[in-house]
Amino acid sequence: MQSTELGFEKPLAALGVTQAEQITARFAGLRAHFDGQFQTVHAESEWKLFRDRWLGRKSGVLALVTDNWLRPSTPELKRAVGAALNDLRSYVESQIESRRLAIESGADQSALAHEHVDLSLPGVTRPIGSHHLIRQVFQEIEDIFVSIGFSVVEGPEIETPYYNFEALNIPEFHPVRDDMDTFYLDLPKGAPTPLLLRTHTSPMQIRTMEKRKPPVRVIVPGKVYRRDNPDATHSFIFHQVEGLAVDADITFCDFTGTIEYFVKQFFGPGVKTRFRPSYFPFTEPSVEFDVSCIFCGGSGTAASGGTCSKCKGAGWIELFGAGMVDPAVYGFVNYDPKKVSGFAFGMGIDRLAMLKYQIDDIQVFFQNDVRFLRQFP
Ligand code: FA5
Repeated sequence: MQSTELGFEKPLAALGVTQAEQITARFAGLRAHFDGQFQTVHAESEWKLFRDRWLGRKSGVLALVTDNWLRPSTPELKRAVGAALNDLRSYVESQIESRRLAIESGADQSALAHEHVDLSLPGVTRPIGSHHLIRQVFQEIEDIFVSIGFSVVEGPEIETPYYNFEALNIPEFHPVRDDMDTFYLDLPKGAPTPLLLRTHTSPMQIRTMEKRKPPVRVIVPGKVYRRDNPDATHSFIFHQVEGLAVDADITFCDFTGTIEYFVKQFFGPGVKTRFRPSYFPFTEPSVEFDVSCIFCGGSGTAASGGTCSKCKGAGWIELFGAGMVDPAVYGFVNYDPKKVSGFAFGMGIDRLAMLKYQIDDIQVFFQNDVRFLRQFP
């Protein structure tokens, strides 16, 4: 029905309404019209338009009915018009309000349906990766030393020259510093001390002895940095494990026994070991520790019959430097060299891993090629 037929744009008198029964019929027509339109209102946007069409303050249907039917009606009809209008208003308002609630809860339901989590679905498997081979080797070494009473400590990768050199009995201008040509940090003017990336884990010998009184038995895994040109066995970042044992009566025999125990645990019982004299300013005597070449079984001859390329025919491969702690070092940490003795060693972990896992180029540890990494899950 058109609004013109409903007649609420005109006064009742102009519609020829003079009796109360005619008023009832007019309002019944309006209500039927409302019901007809109301059935088509489902979405929120439709609901808003519909509400404004019926309840709008100035031009809504009920405002027009008030202006055109109620206000100008004769005193005899006013009461009947007012009562019928009130009934219609409360009907319209309650219908519109209940539809609003229905639309809102419908939106909630569909949002819920959207967000519904199906707990019966299989979970998402996320690849979590594995430890890098160097990390795995650190772990193997730590397990062996912890099993014989060592504890694990870590220290800073940025060091002062005092800890990296001087307290290790390497004064400025000592030729040994040439081998450790270093990475110094660019510091602002007036910085209290120069800083460098540590060239070995040995500074932790000093830091540990400064903090602890003997007996001391620690290993120190960590990264170190040197300005070495990269090749198959050299990298400018590599890894070391430092070892330090200091007590009242530690002898060279304790040292060799500990190292041989470690090497046999790490490489297996078949491997042979030997010490060679060497020099480090912070150990006296100092040694290099070699293992029989695991590639050629110590023969120096490759399976092909030629010279073993790994040990270059020597049958031995150098593993690390070590020695008895030089008494001069105790002076830097207030230990009494007459009362204590000890040994220290510093292993290159990358080379240890290369030997054990037969890797012929140190660079693969730093390239992060997953084809290499996946071989060591
Ligand atoms: C030292 O660093 C001494 N601090 C070791 C030490 C500790 C001696 C305690 C006595 C007592 P050296 O410079 O030899 O020593 O290095 C130790 C090991 O690090 C070497 O045997 C080698 O395995 C490894 N290494 C040295 N330079 C590199 C490099 N550029 N790339 C990879 N590994 C390296």
